[in-house]
Amino acid sequence: IGDWTKIEALTNSLENQSVLIRGRAQAIRAVGKKMAFLVLRENGFTVQCVVQVQPNIVSPQMVKFATALSRESIVDIEGVVSVPNTAIKGATQQVEVQVRKLYCVSRAVPTLPINIEDAARSEIEIEKAIQAGEQLVRVNQDTRLNFRVLDLRTPANQGIFRIQSQVGNAFRQFLLSEGFVEIHTPKLIAGSSEGGAAVFKLDYKGQPACLAQSPQLHKQMSICGDFGRVFEIGAVFRAEDSYTHRHLCEFTGLDVEMEIKKHYSEVMDIVDKLFVAMFDSLNQNCKKDLEAVGRQYPFEPLKYLRQTLRLTYEEGVQMLKDAGTEIEPFGDLNTEAERKLGQLVLQKYGTEFYILHRYPLAVRPFYTMPCYDNQEYSNSFDVFIRGEEIISGAQRIHVPEFLEERAVAKGIDTKTISAYIDSFRYGAPPHGGFGVGLERVVMLFCGLNNIRKTSLYPRDPLRIAP
Ligand code: 4AD
Repeated sequence: IGDWTKIEALTNSLENQSVLIRGRAQAIRAVGKKMAFLVLRENGFTVQCVVQVQPNIVSPQMVKFATALSRESIVDIEGVVSVPNTAIKGATQQVEVQVRKLYCVSRAVPTLPINIEDAARSEIEIEKAIQAGEQLVRVNQDTRLNFRVLDLRTPANQGIFRIQSQVGNAFRQFLLSEGFVEIHTPKLIAGSSEGGAAVFKLDYKGQPACLAQSPQLHKQMSICGDFGRVFEIGAVFRAEDSYTHRHLCEFTGLDVEMEIKKHYSEVMDIVDKLFVAMFDSLNQNCKKDLEAVGRQYPFEPLKYLRQTLRLTYEEGVQMLKDAGTEIEPFGDLNTEAERKLGQLVLQKYGTEFYILHRYPLAVRPFYTMPCYDNQEYSNSFDVFIRGEEIISGAQRIHVPEFLEERAVAKGIDTKTISAYIDSFRYGAPPHGGFGVGLERVVMLFCGLNNIRKTSLYPRDPLRIAP
């Protein structure tokens, strides 16, 4: 950034040097008429700036101007770095800047709907403050989301979305290095891609259409188009009426589809290597961000193995049964059973990340390939972090007649997906893939309790703004 110094980089080694910095006015305090302290914040780092009357350099008017700045205004400062004798309370950087010039680049309104310092406090800090008799406003989730641009300025939120960026980055880097091609499939489609009623319907120039519930159909069609291995990072729309901590109406899907040579375990091999590489890269490259999240929302680092544990659905059901929870052998696991199995797996195998495969066919989408040896099960899997699903995947049916039969059996109007089914009539290799929910990965990696915390501008059944 040329002549500019980042607040993060202001350390003792710059003592007596002139610097040019930009930040937001986080706190302003006047000391009489000749001096003011201004805490400036940039990307979660703060430094105390001292505006003190000095002949020919700092006028009393300038001190007055600084004192009148509104919080969160953007300020440029030219000044000299100094090292004070005592530690500075309320600033992350332990040096000060003696101000020589000060410009207000953008003024914030005088009264903010959210106080950033309040919004950045952990539950423990809030409790302590209340006990100490401090007047403080607990900033609830809805208020945060209503004023999201302010809420995003807290160190924890800065960390969360930098971690989210790194998840996408690690996903892309790994898959490119494994010979995958990045694709972009249409989000406006004629028929539902996952079956079921949870679609946003719309009118497409007089034709019925909907927003894609996943890139499922077109990523498979791209395999028929001979790309061999593809991936996509894109928006996914679900109209389901789920008012839970882990469902959104729009989320970011990380999707993978690939040819299978012999067995669907090839797809699970990619999940395994991809996620171990991703978790390693988060732990290495996002240390500060993880710390910032942990300071507000304390969590334990994720426990994962170098080679990801794989259990069959039958084994999972047996573990639950042994622990006193009966599961319908050809049903699905409910949220509670998934959590419980997560705990049992952690106790027995020491991991919070694992794959559960060979699900009952009845509970999987129409395009899922049944197991060759037992048609009641399927070549499919879910993947869990801390007992919650982040991925579902499977080998797909690549035989068009069988695919059509399965779609009809699941009550799907095959006319709406005829182009998809036809794609398999011109020769199609065996293939499989999986879909990951980006917001869920970040939520669960960081041990957070609500997916709205990891969606920049969440869309749920009650929210379409901001
Ligand atoms: O389990 P889902 O619905 O599977 C599919 O979309 C398949 N096409 C994937 C495949 O390739 N076979 O969604 C995949 C993942 C889930 O595991 C979950 O992490 C996330 O997407 N997900 C949601 N995230 C937020 N809000 C919702 N409403 C979600 N529904 C699914």
